[in-house]
Amino acid sequence: MVAKRRILLGVSGGIAAYKAAALTSTLVQRGDDVDVVMTAEAQRFVSSLTFASLTARPVYTSLWDLPERIPHIRLVREAQVALVVPATANLIAKLAAGIADDLLTAALLAARIPRILAPAMNEAMYEDPATQANISALRARGYEIVDPERGFLAERERGVGRLASEERILQALDRALARRLALKGKRVAITAGPTREAFDPVRFLSNASTGATGIELAREAALRGASVTLLLGPTQLEPPAGVTVVRIVTARELYEAALVHAVGADLVIATAAVADWRPAEHRDSKLSKSGEDLTVRLAPNPDVLAALGERKGSTFLVGFAAETDDHEAHARKKLRYKHLDAIAVNDVGGERGFGTGDNELVLLWGNDGRRELGRSDKKMLAARLLDAVEELMRCS
Ligand code: CTP
Repeated sequence: MVAKRRILLGVSGGIAAYKAAALTSTLVQRGDDVDVVMTAEAQRFVSSLTFASLTARPVYTSLWDLPERIPHIRLVREAQVALVVPATANLIAKLAAGIADDLLTAALLAARIPRILAPAMNEAMYEDPATQANISALRARGYEIVDPERGFLAERERGVGRLASEERILQALDRALARRLALKGKRVAITAGPTREAFDPVRFLSNASTGATGIELAREAALRGASVTLLLGPTQLEPPAGVTVVRIVTARELYEAALVHAVGADLVIATAAVADWRPAEHRDSKLSKSGEDLTVRLAPNPDVLAALGERKGSTFLVGFAAETDDHEAHARKKLRYKHLDAIAVNDVGGERGFGTGDNELVLLWGNDGRRELGRSDKKMLAARLLDAVEELMRCS
């Protein structure tokens, strides 16, 4: 039996709200559960009774109906995707600014599920630089926009701003739902963050990794239905909810944890910036300065990913390559000698790479497989990387 799909349908106040009623009927007929949230303005165009009758469920119009059930959070937790039809210029502006002054905007701000907007409005409003800038900002934050079409508008003129066809809206919805369930039933292990290798009780060797990439990948994989274990080094960042977190400090601890949690997983993604060496001797008491040079002998750490490569089985193994020069050639070497299925190349020269800002990734696989994932924030790159990896897993 196909699992029931649960859709949150937001309706904002434009004449195309009547088309949202037709769309609701289509969704209900194909077996989806639809929770409808209407803005106050939407209710001027179409009655909430229309949607309640079509869905045979209550229609949500206020933050203050049953507030003890915290509707704006519950609705987006229970749904697999949020879709707004139509999205007015005002709603888009509020979302771009993070305003959450009614149930629909609050729910969308709280959503960690895919969010799709189908704008519909007058052509001048759509083309105004304010609206265009708001749409670009929302796209960059991961919203999917189903562009409006050219056609007959409410003001009896032809122009751009007409709601996208139901077919295009359904295609966007189905793509998002397919992506959302792509890792259902899969076991995913992700290594993330730096390791710390102690010299003495107060000093250690480490690097600037924050674990942000691995944390975003873990969040995204969990959203797509996977059961995720995150092997996480010391970082200030909060791991995502809904993920099993195994804390490690040293490379050797990561190695031991990986043998337990990553061997046999369906997918392993190694983003951890593992220290390649550790001080050969560990002192139990703090080393005092003497004014002399200090020589510290370093011993090599185990290569966690290479060890997983040796025990690969049917695991799909993805590495990261932190490079400062000749990036792709170095990464392809790592792809081969660590027995990986794919490797994401990360330029850690300049300002990219470590830290929580933007990053730029290229994914390499096989002899000459290559896809640029572009430059973006780490949340967006995590989604693009998983899209690409899922595609490769389906073909492998
Ligand atoms: N990696 C690992 N264990 C290590 C070193 C690296 O699991 N001891 C993993 C990283 O998580 C990453 C990949 O191997 O997925 C490549 O890491 P990178 O630092 O780019 O390469 P190294 O193998 O350390 O090689 P080098 O530092 O010589 O470039």
